[in-house]
Amino acid sequence: MSHTARTHCCQELSKVHIGTEVTINGWVNRRRDHGGVIFIDARDRSGIVQLVFNPAGTPEVVMNGAHNLRNEFVIAATGTVIARAPEAVNDKIPTGSIEIVVTSLVILNSSKPLPFQLDDAEQVDEELRLKYRYLDMRRDKMQRFMRLRHEVVFAIREALDKQGFYEIETPILSKSTPEGARDFLVPSRLQPGHFYALPQSPQLYKQLLMMSGMEKYFQIARCFRDEDMRANRQLEFTQIDLEMSFVDEQAVQIFVENMVRHLFKKVFNMTLPSKFESHTFKEMFGLYGSDKPDRRFALPIHEATALFAHTELGFLKSTLAAGGKIGTLCVKDYSFSRSELERVVGMTIKDFGAKGLLYVRFNEDGSSDSPVAKFLPADFFAQAQVMVPGLTTKDTLFLVAGNYKDAWTSLGRLRLYFGHSLSLIDKTKHDLFWITDFPLFEWDAEQKRFFATHHPFTSPNIGWEKLEPGDMTARAYDLVYNGEELGGGSIRIHDSAVQSKVFDLLGISHEEAQQKFGFLLEAQQLGCPPHGGLALGLDRLIMLLVGASSIREVIAFPKTQGGLCPLMQAPCTVDARQLKEVHIQTRVLGRQTDKSE
Ligand code: AMO
Repeated sequence: MSHTARTHCCQELSKVHIGTEVTINGWVNRRRDHGGVIFIDARDRSGIVQLVFNPAGTPEVVMNGAHNLRNEFVIAATGTVIARAPEAVNDKIPTGSIEIVVTSLVILNSSKPLPFQLDDAEQVDEELRLKYRYLDMRRDKMQRFMRLRHEVVFAIREALDKQGFYEIETPILSKSTPEGARDFLVPSRLQPGHFYALPQSPQLYKQLLMMSGMEKYFQIARCFRDEDMRANRQLEFTQIDLEMSFVDEQAVQIFVENMVRHLFKKVFNMTLPSKFESHTFKEMFGLYGSDKPDRRFALPIHEATALFAHTELGFLKSTLAAGGKIGTLCVKDYSFSRSELERVVGMTIKDFGAKGLLYVRFNEDGSSDSPVAKFLPADFFAQAQVMVPGLTTKDTLFLVAGNYKDAWTSLGRLRLYFGHSLSLIDKTKHDLFWITDFPLFEWDAEQKRFFATHHPFTSPNIGWEKLEPGDMTARAYDLVYNGEELGGGSIRIHDSAVQSKVFDLLGISHEEAQQKFGFLLEAQQLGCPPHGGLALGLDRLIMLLVGASSIREVIAFPKTQGGLCPLMQAPCTVDARQLKEVHIQTRVLGRQTDKSE
């Protein structure tokens, strides 16, 4: 064994090693010179241990080495573990009661001055952190996140293996799967003019695996979606992807609950309920104006349409005449200033998509205090108490009118704003529950056609044949965790006649269906078992588990908001020869950039 090879990891050392000669490998975390005695905090993946270089008794060559050390030098240090003097014990680190008196030091690699100090990384521009991600990830926090990610994936593999799932990889060079985002395309060299699409999810492959008799499949799957990025979205991300044959929605949910329960117990020693709550989309949207409500605080939406049945307010009158509804949020026991109210109104219109926001406060005698007070009936407070049980004169009502979907969506966003700004959210809660029975289709008013709410392979609920497309519901379910959509899935269509009908309702012609999904329609006629599944967003799960504000924090090499990897400088131009090989010419703003021409 080389004399620089580690015998122990830094944080593995403790009082039991006192008197032992050890070799550690790692980085210089911090160097302190106390009147000639040099102290080094040596760091490796496990943590920190203190090295001591005392001129009295340390060979000169080793002392010289110690003087040269700077932050982030990589070293191998050999020495004897000793107990620290009682006054030098550091309770803040696990190895704080011991130190290593170094007798041999090898500098394995030096380091230029760093572009930023690791301790300051949280204050540094994110792009710089991503450019030097390998430095950023040396920090304790990032090491913890990566370790946790590994532990979660490991626990998932363990739980699914125990439940009889096979882990099967599916192609990355694939064909477009309609998950609702734009595809990333890869030109084919062997088939000129043809393109692969990177999978938005392994959806169709996992269904084909059920048709292949695999019965229970899972994959820690990379997915690619060219969509606008947000804190909880990346162009490429990871799903915990599952599919099962001969199951209904309850069976899928039980498998997923078992997996999530195992994970929380194993990684956090936390016991989740033996059955997760389940609510329909209709119920949740009506209460919270969202398909992923944060229920760690109350503040439900109340319908207040009847309160304004005889209103003289023009806007409300015309909204109601057009079949619209009025919803209200009742913020309890908080005295808003006039300027706060004005700001909330501005934000609700500009950012939350409402056409307007009315607010009503109450004087002690129950009379209304509102810009529209003169249009409200004298007994408005008493009437409102019927709509909003428990209403007191210390509360403020916020009202939005519009078509049901838009008005409730705006109120849902406003509700979330109040949740954060008024600190209503109980951050100690873990609220994990199912939402079921989503609409099968959503109407796109601009394109004047239906889209699949989930994806076109989702089975409609029983009785669908007798309903209008807009009223059909899906055998789909989402798992919501603390106000984020953690996962989604469904029971799939396994009958090609039903599949063809759904394509038809989506405006996909017979020819197009054959061209794009002919293989699926045929497989559905060749012994296709009933099947269903789900995918959980792994990055989102980790983000929520560690309380990070963005999934970028829990992905080793994420892209920036603009889709860039500042470290590798991707995407980048490629040389003309490469383009020619894949039969591509590029034209940017009408200008030829392909030098191969
Ligand atoms: P869906 O599109 O709902 O379903 O995706 C499942 C889960 O994946 C996560 N997710 C994302 N995470 C990060 N960045 C993104 N851009 C992103 N998009 C989605 C979310 C989401 O809940 N094939 C179906 C699953 C199925 O039906 O089995 C699917 O992909 O956490």
